[in-house]
Amino acid sequence: MTNNKMYFIANWKMFGDLKILKSLNIVIKINKLRKFKHAKIIYCPPYTLLHNFVQKFKKTKIEVGAQNCHQLDTNGPFTGSINSKMIKNLGCKYVILGHSENRIEGEKNSIINKKISISLKNNLKIIFCIGENLNEKKSNKTKKIISNQITQCLKKIKNIKNIIFAYEPVWSIGTGIIPKSKDLYNNILFIKHLLKKKFKAKNPIVLYGGSVNPNNIKELREIKVIDGFLIGGSSQNSNKFIDIIKKTFI
Ligand code: PGA
Repeated sequence: MTNNKMYFIANWKMFGDLKILKSLNIVIKINKLRKFKHAKIIYCPPYTLLHNFVQKFKKTKIEVGAQNCHQLDTNGPFTGSINSKMIKNLGCKYVILGHSENRIEGEKNSIINKKISISLKNNLKIIFCIGENLNEKKSNKTKKIISNQITQCLKKIKNIKNIIFAYEPVWSIGTGIIPKSKDLYNNILFIKHLLKKKFKAKNPIVLYGGSVNPNNIKELREIKVIDGFLIGGSSQNSNKFIDIIKKTFI
């Protein structure tokens, strides 16, 4: 932890319904405890639950974000899309952009660049995902890929202080496999150096994401350059999510 806060961002992907809201009470309770005062919890449920989550966490320090948005902020004929103004208007503070599950569907760096730019303009904070796939890792291209993603997606973006970076190797998402500690340390440090050098970032926040769970969190928390975690599968169960938070600090 290099930023005084340790981030725990729950990415619920296409999971969750109204019945699950009750199970969040225990997270609210934990979040109020002094011993977890350095934990910053952000929930990114599907669009259908954003309003309910914002209401649920209204009197707490837990914040809410969306999982993606359209690259325009005007209204328009884009069936199935939601823009950053709408997300902000709902009371959300964040939006996840550049997630590999959207890149696989065809989202290019140039589109992500537009989304980042428009979302920042509409006062959302960005959780920006980067990371190499298995082939790229095997052919030693990790740093090149990360560097290209950052440079292209942040083109013409001057102020990056409202961007949280999430290093998510594609091969570790949902697979139960996490990178070797040494590799993770080196890659996170590489990202931080790049951001400081190219974008004049003072203290960039860089998270790790990919199969974070209660069994591997103790290993991950030892990598001190990591500022928190973007958690998919294990965040949908409140007990597991809390277990991860507890084991990070205790
Ligand atoms: P996972 O997903 O924790 O289920 O691997 C992480 C993510 O996709 O953000």
